[in-house]
Order: sequence, then structure tokens, then C-alpha cells
Amino acid sequence: MTAAQEAQPVTQAATASSSVPLISLRDIKKSFGSVHALRGASVDVHAGEIVALVGDNGAGKTTLVKVMAGVHAADTGEYEIEGQPANIRTPSDATSHGIATVYQDLALCNNLDAVQNLFLGRELTGSRWLGRRIHRAESEVRAREVLTRMRLGSLSLTRPVGAMSGGQRQNIAIARSVLWKPKVVILDEPTAALSHSASQQVADLIRSLADDGLGVVVVSHDIHHFVVNSTDRIVVMRLGANAATFRSKDVTGEMVVNAMVGGNEGVNLAG
Ligand SMILES: Nc1ncnc2c1ncn2[C@@H]1O[C@H](COP(=O)(O)OP(=O)(O)OP(=O)(O)O)[C@@H](O)[C@H]1O
Ligand SMILES: [Mg+2]
Repeated sequence: MTAAQEAQPVTQAATASSSVPLISLRDIKKSFGSVHALRGASVDVHAGEIVALVGDNGAGKTTLVKVMAGVHAADTGEYEIEGQPANIRTPSDATSHGIATVYQDLALCNNLDAVQNLFLGRELTGSRWLGRRIHRAESEVRAREVLTRMRLGSLSLTRPVGAMSGGQRQNIAIARSVLWKPKVVILDEPTAALSHSASQQVADLIRSLADDGLGVVVVSHDIHHFVVNSTDRIVVMRLGANAATFRSKDVTGEMVVNAMVGGNEGVNLAG
């Protein structure tokens, strides 16, 4: 068999491992007025795997991610978490089920340092008679622990994140998302606007999360580098539905792009 033949799109069932997926979305539909953003999209995410969600502009990637994260409620479709039907209709529903999201704007406060950003909105507070004072020392210890575990120990804890590089800021946003031990982390364009070496660092960090048993979903337009080299499975969306699924190790960037833009060129190329 040639490498090209091996690279034919395969069904999700064929590529997924036999374990129960951490999250499974089936035939999700979502319209905004007359715009059918999702016309029946499906994706499974297993523990330990990095799933890339790719597609042309407007294909429905962000909408699908927002359904996963509870930002949008699906009109129809099934959402299961570890095999159980789940009713995820708000971001806090998703968070409480262990689904964390890192959005493209990162939602970091530039004037605050890494520790403050890591605990933003969830500050460790003191006991009542101390007032609800932030335990800075405790937060620093916890932040250092987490960053060291993520091999980000060299990041400054005290510099405002606005003074850090794009890659460092991305890493802090990812560290913040895993601080509370989610099962699934969803990242929207984590390598956009990063240099090659910063992208590689972020890719290494994402791999270490998967190696720790998390399921990772990554929306990315960086097909030729990040998607084919640093993910396990590629789910291609087109016009709000699934167009193809590939094992990342089996494909070239061209094949993925062909599946994104239409027709069955990916298959034809392989044939
Ligand atoms: N809140 C909204 N209101 C109306 N239409 C929307 C809304 N959000 C998304 N859409 C539409 O749904 C479709 C899918 O959009 P979506 O943002 O999911 O695409 P995408 O794959 O993330 O694209 P991109 O690569 O450009 O980020 C588009 O036609 C978009 O205009
Ligand atoms: Mg988008």
C-alpha cells in the first residue's frame, strides 16, 4: 500500500480508540437566524489525544467549540460526557464537567502578573477573620508548582503579562486553564501569530497535557506545521458539517487543505 492510499480519510469510528470518549458531540445543529452555522457536526475526544478542528473561514469551528464550552446551546444533537448524556447550556455547566477553554484573545489582564492572571476571578482567599484577603504567598507557591510541572518554570511570576511575548502569554493562558484540573482543554488558534519556535513550545506544552491524560481540542489554520505535525487526529469541517477525519501521521498538509476546500480531492489524491 502506498503512503497516499493509507492517507484516505477514515471514519471517526475507525480512528477512535476503544475507550469511551471524554466528550462526544453527535449531529450538532446550530442556526443563528437564517444562518446554519452547524448542519450536523460530530466530534469525539478521547483521553490522551489531541484533536485538530480545521476548516475554511465560516466552516463552523468556533461555533462547534462554543457548543462544547457551553457558550452556545445546540439547537439539536447529542452531547455526552464520558458516555453519559450531558446538558451543557452555559459556560459554568462546561467548567463543572471539567471542560476548560482558552479563547483566542486569551482573556489575560495585561497589567497583572502571571500569578494574578492564573488566579483571576478565583483568588485563594484567607479565612474570615483575615478578611477575604488574597493569599499572595500561597498563590505564588501554587503558581510556581503548576508552571514547573508544565516545564514553564522560567516564566516570571512578577512581570506584567502585557510585557511578555505572545508565546509566553499563550502559555500562561494554557496554564490557567489547567490549574483546576479539567479533563478536556479546548484551544482556539493557540499558535496564531506566534513565531516558529514559540509555536513549537506551545505544541510541546499541549502534548504534555495529552500525555497527562487530558483530551485536547485545537482549532487551527496552521495546517502545514502545527496540525499535521503536532496533533493525533484531524477533523475537517466544511459548511457546518464534517467533511473528513484523518490520522495526523498519515496525511500531508495538501490533503487536509483539499478536504477543507471541497469535493473529494483528498480521497482522489490518495487514489
Ligand atoms: N453569533 C452569530 N450570529 C450570526 N451568525 C454567526 C454567529 N456566529 C457565527 N455565525 C456564522 O456561522 C458561520 C460559522 O461561523 P464560525 O465562526 O463557527 O466559523 P469558523 O469555522 O470558526 O471560521 P473562522 O475560521 O473564520 O474563524 C458563519 O457563517 C458565521 O458568519
Ligand atoms: Mg473561528
